[in-house]
Amino acid sequence: MPDGMTRPMLPAVEKFIVAMRKIFEDGVPEPDRWEMCREHLKEVIADPDVKAHAKDWPITGFNPETNRVQNLLFYEDPDYGFVINALIKKPGGFAMIHDHGSAWTIYGVLSGRERIVHFDAEENSDGTFETSESHAEYCEQGDVDVVKPWLIHSEFAGDEKSIAVIVRSKRSGTFKQYRYLEDGERVVIKGPEQVPYALA
Ligand SMILES: [Fe+2]
Repeated sequence: MPDGMTRPMLPAVEKFIVAMRKIFEDGVPEPDRWEMCREHLKEVIADPDVKAHAKDWPITGFNPETNRVQNLLFYEDPDYGFVINALIKKPGGFAMIHDHGSAWTIYGVLSGRERIVHFDAEENSDGTFETSESHAEYCEQGDVDVVKPWLIHSEFAGDEKSIAVIVRSKRSGTFKQYRYLEDGERVVIKGPEQVPYALA
């Protein structure tokens, strides 16, 4: 168990972990595994104890010292590698255009609302990239979005603070992902910095 993680956690989260481990044990393949995860995560973000606990979660902003956004880290599974994170955006907060590399990301909105925008990227002859919006939708409180590996996207919080509980197939920082800059450059990023936080 990585430092800073306290067990047992809130009962709804312990139940979620048991359910996810069973899905892995049963050998449910992708993407079905993550569709099942979506249903279990809906229960977590609707749980009254989790919602009450979330009122105290700190805003996980951009850390200028590391040049990375932060995520709270509640849990990392020792056998299957999936992690449970939270991302708390202040009103009007947004992410730059990026992908999540080879990881699956199951993104549950616990409070507030997010506008999720997908992009296509075309490579120019000089190695820069042209991104264009391909799809946009709102994720409301209680909704869970399943984000496939390599999907290029951005998330925008509305007028309220937004709180998301996120399940990732592996811990950010252990694999490569890309960010697309305004000048067309594509850069490798390590993904959100992991800030251990006790969910107990
Ligand atoms: Fe993202």
